[in-house]
Amino acid sequence: MNEHSHAKIEKNVGLMAVLIAVAISFGGLAEIVPLMYQAETIQPLPGVTPYPPLQLAGRDVYVREGCYNCHSQMIRTLRFETERYGHYSLAGESVYDRPFQWGSKRTGPDLARVGGRYSDDWHRMHLTDPRSVVPESNMPSYAWLQSTPLDAALMQKKLAALRTLGDPYSDEQIAAAKTELDGKNELDAVVAYLQGLGRHAPAAAAAGDQP
Ligand code: HEC
Repeated sequence: MNEHSHAKIEKNVGLMAVLIAVAISFGGLAEIVPLMYQAETIQPLPGVTPYPPLQLAGRDVYVREGCYNCHSQMIRTLRFETERYGHYSLAGESVYDRPFQWGSKRTGPDLARVGGRYSDDWHRMHLTDPRSVVPESNMPSYAWLQSTPLDAALMQKKLAALRTLGDPYSDEQIAAAKTELDGKNELDAVVAYLQGLGRHAPAAAAAGDQP
């Protein structure tokens, strides 16, 4: 472009605005388009399936109560993290997390691999009265969870909604959610969710197996 035509653009506000919009759109597309294909590029790890209804109900309580304000679910690729928590987190583990719970605030420990670390009874006591099992804990008590029943009909609608987003729930699973949640309370759900966290993670990173 010669000096003359450049001056033409600079003196024509309308043309300049159109060209600026075109330039910005290209920048925007370059960032946005790859995100549209992310669901296809990030594959679930072997064994990672959509959350069973009870765990999903627990996950909803986890989000509602803001547990992520004190707990992350993302183990970083640093030796002291993998030594303490296990294999660093992989994108393929959270393909069914909407929204993901990676977080960054760690008032309490990371929970990405907490599944199976404690018994169900420990979790029940800890969530209802944290000081009863960890005297120095400053985690709040969530005593009302055990007296709050789950809404099975609402969960069936949630499963159907997630299916429209691509989570492979079958008709049978959605129908079975009714019996799976009947008579259960929010504490049952959160414990099931916590016990499922990190169960499909790769085995703990071996020494020297750092990226
Ligand atoms: C104000 C911050 C805070 C909030 C909010 C919070 N926690 Fe905690 N949590 C902690 C702290 C601190 C600890 C470590 C002491 C202890 O074990 O109680 C902890 C420990 C835990 C542990 C044991 C982890 C381990 O590896 O030992 C679990 C499980 C847990 N929290 C679950 C939850 C859940 C579920 C919620 C939401 C319902 C929640 N926390 C909300 C601060 C918090």
